[in-house]
Amino acid sequence: MTVVASASPSLALIKYWGKLPGGVNLPATSSLAVTLDGLRTTTSVTENDEDRVVVGGRVQAIGAYDPLLAAVRRRCGSSRRVLVESSNTFPTAAGVASSSSGFAALALALDRFYETHMSDTALSSLARLGSGSASRAVFGGFTTWERGSEYARRVHDAAHWDALRVIVVVVRPGTKRISSRAGMNAASETSPVYRAWIDESARLFARGVDALGRRDLEALGTAMRESYLLMFSTMFTTRPPIIYWEPGSLAVIREAERMRADALPVWETMDAGPQVKLLTLEQHVPAVTERVLAVVPDADLLVARPGGEPDAGVDRA
Ligand code: PMV
Repeated sequence: MTVVASASPSLALIKYWGKLPGGVNLPATSSLAVTLDGLRTTTSVTENDEDRVVVGGRVQAIGAYDPLLAAVRRRCGSSRRVLVESSNTFPTAAGVASSSSGFAALALALDRFYETHMSDTALSSLARLGSGSASRAVFGGFTTWERGSEYARRVHDAAHWDALRVIVVVVRPGTKRISSRAGMNAASETSPVYRAWIDESARLFARGVDALGRRDLEALGTAMRESYLLMFSTMFTTRPPIIYWEPGSLAVIREAERMRADALPVWETMDAGPQVKLLTLEQHVPAVTERVLAVVPDADLLVARPGGEPDAGVDRA
C-alpha cells in the first residue's frame, strides 16, 4: 500500500521565531499565516525494511523525522517502518517554507498509512513535531498558531480574501546557510533585542489578526513589515550575526518602497532565507511583476493565492 499526500507552504504574515522551553517546537510568539495555493509538496509513504526519507531525490538524515514517526507509531502501536519520498514544485530549504508543507504532507500521509484517523488538531500537533510552521500548513486558507500552543487553527477559509496575492520572488535559489531552527535558537540565546521582539510580536499579532479580519491590506502590510523587520533585527544582533539577505533581497525591498510611493499597494516580508514575498491584490500583479523584474531580472517569480487545502489518497496496489 502506498499513501500519497500533498500540502502547500504556510507563509507567516506575523512571524513565529523562537521557542518556549520544554516541549517540542512550542512557539514563543503567536503567528498569523496564509497557506499558498499553487505551491505544493507531494509526499508518498510505503512500507519498507527501515525508515528512509528522500526529499527531491536526496536521502535525508533521519533524526529530524524521528519525533514525528515515533509519535504516530506510539499512537497506533505499530512498528512498521516506512520509505518516505517527497518533492516540491518550488525551491527546497531556500526560505520558501518548504519545511511547512513537507511536514504537513508527511503528517497527513502517516495518518492515512497507519490509519490513525487524527482530528485536524491532532494532525497539526503531529506536523509541529517536524517543523513549527508545519502546524499551520495542515490547513488551507488563513491560520493562527498562538504562543505556547501545540497546534494551529484555521481562522478564515481562502474565500475570506480571494483577491489577495503573494508573489514569491526567488532572488537566489539554493539551500539556506543556516536552518530556521538553528537560527531562532541562536537568536533567543544571544540577541540583546530578542526580549523586545517577544514583547512587540504580541501587539503585532493582534494588529495582524484585526487587519486580516477587515481585509485591510495597508494595515496588514504595515504590521507584516514590522514583524519581519523586527525578527531580522534579532538575527542581525545574534552572536555571531545571521544575515540571510542578498543584494537582490534589498533591491526588492527598495522597489516595494518605491511602488508604495507610486500608490501601488504592495508590502514585503521575508523568512529564514534571501527570498522576498510580496503581498498585493490580484489586479496589481502584472504591474508589480514588471517592476520587480526591472530590478532583479534573473529572479524567478511564483504567484500564489490563499488556499492550499491538503489532500491525501491511498493507492492499495
Ligand atoms: O517552522 P520552522 O522551524 O522552519 O520556522 C519557521 C520560521 C519562519 O519561517 C521564519 C517564520 C514562520 O512563522 O514561518
